Amino acid sequence: MSAAHAGPIAPHGGTLVDRLDVDVKSSGRPSVTLSARQQADLDLIAVGALSPLDGFMGSEAYESVIETMRLPDGLAWSVPITLGVSREELSAAGSVDEVEMVDADGRFLGVVQIAERFDLDPAREARKVFGTDDEAHPGVASLYAHPTTALAGPVTVAARMGLDEASARYRLDPAAARARFDELGWKTVVGFQTRNPIHRAHEYITKVALESVDGLLIHPLVGETKSDDIPADVRMRCYGALMAGYYPADRVVLGVLPAAMRYAGPREAILHAIMRQNYGCTHFIVGRDHAGVGDYYGTYDAQHIFDGLGPDELAIRPMKFEHSFWCKVTGGMATAKTSPAGPEDRVFLSGTKVREMLGNGEMPPEEFTRPEVAQILIDAYRQS
Ligand code: ADX
Repeated sequence: MSAAHAGPIAPHGGTLVDRLDVDVKSSGRPSVTLSARQQADLDLIAVGALSPLDGFMGSEAYESVIETMRLPDGLAWSVPITLGVSREELSAAGSVDEVEMVDADGRFLGVVQIAERFDLDPAREARKVFGTDDEAHPGVASLYAHPTTALAGPVTVAARMGLDEASARYRLDPAAARARFDELGWKTVVGFQTRNPIHRAHEYITKVALESVDGLLIHPLVGETKSDDIPADVRMRCYGALMAGYYPADRVVLGVLPAAMRYAGPREAILHAIMRQNYGCTHFIVGRDHAGVGDYYGTYDAQHIFDGLGPDELAIRPMKFEHSFWCKVTGGMATAKTSPAGPEDRVFLSGTKVREMLGNGEMPPEEFTRPEVAQILIDAYRQS
């Protein structure tokens, strides 16, 4: 273990960033109000989940990431992390060196030391990062909804992003996750990103991955998601139920990723992997249409993008999985790689279909989801 970090793998760029300082106080400096996504990015920077970033990107990094998928020093990086602020906020900030960041309720979050003010280019960013400038894409719509002038510079963070009670119980920051993996003696850990309740396909790929490594980090994203995704508190109850009944307690850690979903498919898969490396994972699961939405990305585009990086550009290794399904012939979960079944014997259920069933109070079949998880989802739908 190097002195710079605990855990089985070095952070991206070598050092785990720590920008939390609860002693930083508001002192009446001009302020900017952060959106949910910006607040999530700030929280991730604070705890080192976005190492080596210690603040919001400036123009050089912005250009370089968009055009080359690398930071100016050549380190792989796929998605710009920027702080767009309104014209009013910008003019109120005048020529000061520091502004305060607040949330929508005016709660003080921390301070940005302004290194640069510059203009973003949302249309180009959308095309390069999302592969589309279609405003019907939820990530592109969110990008366009943000202001186009950015403040850049290192941050100091005084207050964490608020989480619902169920998610807050599972807050496990990168340094703590790394320490936990060391305590457990894990030399290899696979991280699993998800924004959905864990269904049988997820359970299957996480367990197949776990067969090859020491431990599994189930790492649901609990920041902002699109309105028809299942809320984080409900999902957290599902993960708890699943872990209680279907995974061995000593091989799995559950923690939350306080990130917003961008739905940027392939580019977001790389960002997801980098963040998991910072949490101490040596491997990362990339399945079917990872971080995708609608028909914007090919089923395996998020896997192929890793092949475009040089062999040493990312220390964390992707573990790639084919589209998995319930196989009627073998009576278990499988993929086309492991099952002899023809299309008629493969049970795929779409998220939309399942939401429809839950809305009608119908139990999704056991081939799709464990009954304990289905019950939690049905109860949540009844209450909403
Ligand atoms: S995501 O936006 O976080 O990717 P989701 O929670 O559905 O959405 O997926 C979590 C992970 O499981 C992703 O790596 C995704 O590719 C993978 N995955 C989801 N469903 C399947 C499936 N049926 N077969 C294989 N991989 C899947």
